[in-house]
This record gives sequence, C-alpha cells and structure tokens, in this order.
Amino acid sequence: MLRRLSPVQPDDFAFTPRNLEWARAQMTKYPEGRQQSAIIPVLWRAQEQEGWLSRPAIEYCAELLGMSFIRALEVATFYFMFQLHPVGRIAHVQICGTTTCMICGAGDLIAVCRERIAPTPHTLSADGNFSWEEVECLGACTNAPMVQIGKDYYEDLTAQKLAALIDALVAGQLPVPGPQNGRFSSEALGGATALTATERSEDYNASAARAVRLRDTVKRIDGGEVPILTPWAQRPEQAEPGAPENEPEPSAGRLVDATGITVQEAAGTSAGRPPSMREPAGQPADARTTE
Ligand code: FES
Repeated sequence: MLRRLSPVQPDDFAFTPRNLEWARAQMTKYPEGRQQSAIIPVLWRAQEQEGWLSRPAIEYCAELLGMSFIRALEVATFYFMFQLHPVGRIAHVQICGTTTCMICGAGDLIAVCRERIAPTPHTLSADGNFSWEEVECLGACTNAPMVQIGKDYYEDLTAQKLAALIDALVAGQLPVPGPQNGRFSSEALGGATALTATERSEDYNASAARAVRLRDTVKRIDGGEVPILTPWAQRPEQAEPGAPENEPEPSAGRLVDATGITVQEAAGTSAGRPPSMREPAGQPADARTTE
C-alpha cells in the first residue's frame, strides 16, 4: 500500500516546550553526531502531540536531529504506526486484517467501520470524531479478531461488540481493553484441556486463584487502573449467590453494559477519550502530551 502525505497540511509545527525538552533528552542517548538515531521516538512524540504526522512536523523533527528531510520522510512513510493523515478526535480504529483475524471475522469489523465511521479508510467521520484503517498482524492472533485503538488492544471481537465499543466511546466512556468475551488472556475458551489431573496443574490453578485474590489490575495509558477480568470470575449481572471468594469486585466507575462490553465511566471529557488521541481544542498546548 502506498503511504503518502495528506494533501491537507497545517502551516507549521513546533514541539511544546515540555516535548522539546523531552526530545533533546532522547538525543543525548546517542554518541555525538548520531542524534538522528532518535528519529523514531521524536517522530512518535510529534504524533502524540498532534494526533498525526504532518509534513511540517516531519520537517521539524528532521531539522531538530540535523538530518535531511527525505531521510525522516523515509522513516515516517515506512512504519504503519505513523499516521500520515488526520485521525478522529475521539478514536482511530486500526483493524487487523491479516490471516487469522480475517478468518475469524475481521471483514465484519471492517463493515462496521465502513458503516459507522466512513466508507473508506483514512477518512474522518462526518463529525470528525472517528477514523479507521486496516493494518497488518498486531501480534494478538490467538484473540482474533481484534482492533487497536490508541495504545490499547480490544480482542475477541464481533461486529456487535465493536459497534458497542464505538457507542461507549461516543458516550465518553473508556472501554476496558483486552479480550471482550470474558477470557483472561488467550487461554482456551472451553477451559483447560491439558495438565488437568496432575498435582502440578492444581498448583498452577491455586497460584492463579491467589493472583486474582490480590485484585490484579491493568494500568491504562491514561493513568487509570481497572480490574482484570478472569474467565472464572463471572460478570456482575451473571453472578450467583455464593460466588467464589476470588471473584473481583467491580471497582467504582466500572460498568458492564447489556452488550457485555466492559467500560469505565469517564470522569470528564478528557478522561473519556481513548488514550492516544488529541486533547480538545483550547487545551493548553503543554498539557497535550506529558511524560
Ligand atoms: S492476524 Fe490479527 S493479530 Fe495476528
């Protein structure tokens, strides 16, 4: 696929003072005269600040590192993680379209994006809040099909789950990342089929139960912390009297909607936003990207 710069470009780009300080610190990691080795983190920082990489941003990074523009452009156009077109204010949905996900229903997810966001990839939705694209394998094949939003993975999806996930984002909620079908990670959905009768497996299961009693959580990119769902811990609406003691309690602000999508109630507009997206207009520039 050809990766070209957007025909619509801003007039200029400059790092916020804090991001400039961060970029200069990255440059000190390399020997004198080799500062261009920091091109990937510096470009990434520019993308985190603006949401996507414009031509002025790439030129700015090249100049900062003392390298020719064409060499910075080569890097920016080579890696799919760099967005060369404006992305949705709320979310840019990256759908894995490689073999495993495609076999397991990625086509249905793409159809949802075509209908809910825009008919073609790299196109903003009518309200400018969403965009989508198909990407190559994201390394979560055992949880296919899946999408990446910001730095979060949403796995074991169906068309209905993805639509519900988009609804949750529109409502300002933070869907909890990870498998969306109740499994803990990538274990067999039907339960263990090996090492089920040995003392060793009992040890393993006992230690797994202990881990849950510790109230394990996953730290999100926005700094929030949410409980990890486990296959043996039923969702609140399914819980029966006498549920096992290792069932995690829903934390404040954590919701499970009727579709089974687990979301975290947003504390405010910014908190309801997926991780990698830009801050709303009017936000102080220095606050956009922080360490
Ligand atoms: S094929 Fe989709 S994550 Fe690997």
